[in-house]
Amino acid sequence: MEYVTLANGIEMPVLGYGVYQIPKEETEACVLNALQTGYRSIDTAQAYGNEEEVGSAIIKSGIPRQEIFLTSKVWISDYGYDACRASVLRSLEKLQTDYIDLMLLHQPFNDTYGAWRALEDLYDEGKLRAIGVSNFYPDRLIDFCAFNRIKPMVNQVEAHLLFQQAEAKVFMDKYGVVMEAWAPLAQANKELMEEPLLLAIGEKYRKTPAQLALRWNIDRGVVVIPKTTNPERMAENFDVLDFKLSEGEMVSLEALDKKKSLFLSHTDPDTVEMFITAAKPAEEEPIAIDSPVDESIEPTAPVEPGVPAEPVEPAPEEPAGEEPAPEEPAETDLPAE
Ligand SMILES: NC(=O)c1ccc[n+]([C@@H]2O[C@H](COP(=O)([O-])OP(=O)(O)OC[C@H]3O[C@@H](n4cnc5c(N)ncnc54)[C@H](OP(=O)(O)O)[C@@H]3O)[C@@H](O)[C@H]2O)c1
Repeated sequence: MEYVTLANGIEMPVLGYGVYQIPKEETEACVLNALQTGYRSIDTAQAYGNEEEVGSAIIKSGIPRQEIFLTSKVWISDYGYDACRASVLRSLEKLQTDYIDLMLLHQPFNDTYGAWRALEDLYDEGKLRAIGVSNFYPDRLIDFCAFNRIKPMVNQVEAHLLFQQAEAKVFMDKYGVVMEAWAPLAQANKELMEEPLLLAIGEKYRKTPAQLALRWNIDRGVVVIPKTTNPERMAENFDVLDFKLSEGEMVSLEALDKKKSLFLSHTDPDTVEMFITAAKPAEEEPIAIDSPVDESIEPTAPVEPGVPAEPVEPAPEEPAGEEPAPEEPAETDLPAE
């Protein structure tokens, strides 16, 4: 395995296994399979509703806990100091572990600063080995780095060959924040999987477009966490550690960048309102949204990970990019399921 070193010296595997949209009942078997395949980093979230199954798989695998890098994320309905702290303690229980390797704030909305202070304290207490954020575009990330005691060590954002986020990466590098790519396969986007340039480079290395897409991110120092429930694709995605792309190939692949999210922009006011609505306590009046939210990215829609349309999700062409609502409606306000 290859590793990146986080700002606090902790080593994080460059390749992990994401469990977004994997149904609860399939998660334990999938994670066990991933661990048997060789993955040693698992990415889950409170909102995925499968933390317990991830925890059980880790225990059943028999692999020593310290050999596994475990990431989870706090959902926005649990932001603010007290709620965030309580939610992390619940995650620890569900994951059946004494510590989480990396805890992220899942979205850049609501009381992120209060929530962050809770993460800072839990980090000081040793319950979290590293802390970071997700979906923070440069403006929010810079402000966050400037006005917090501990800077985020990781920022998990959409990043793949079709949306490379090169400018965002410049700022992450500047502030010592490791970039982690969600949807590193662009959720199996057809255009990407059939891209002639990838097919041509793939002939040289005997690798598939999916493998090249993962290696490209790794070669620029970005952590990848591809998701699949298919054992063959799980092995295929893991088999990217025996080659490196040349400088020329890295440069030629820059041409594939469309510089636009395939899923949703966190700076789009409609997106922001959608997330705020999702975070609002159930007993409160819903906020007014003057234009209907796109159902395809509605987090209150079929929340069940695994349903083709993720909570904040896809239509075949533009698979979900965002996350589901937390599994327990009572705790999350998201009219789950
Ligand atoms: N922080 C956030 O807001 C956020 C948002 C989204 C995702 N994430 C995290 O990032 C992880 C990965 O992102 P993602 O799941 O959205 O997208 P992804 O990993 O880019 O793509 C997953 C899709 O690609 C297919 N696939 C996997 N390997 C393949 C291969 N070798 N060839 C062809 N198709 C393949 C999978 O289908 P099969 O299962 O059928 O193989 C699935 O439909 C998630 O699981 C989650 O942990 C975080």
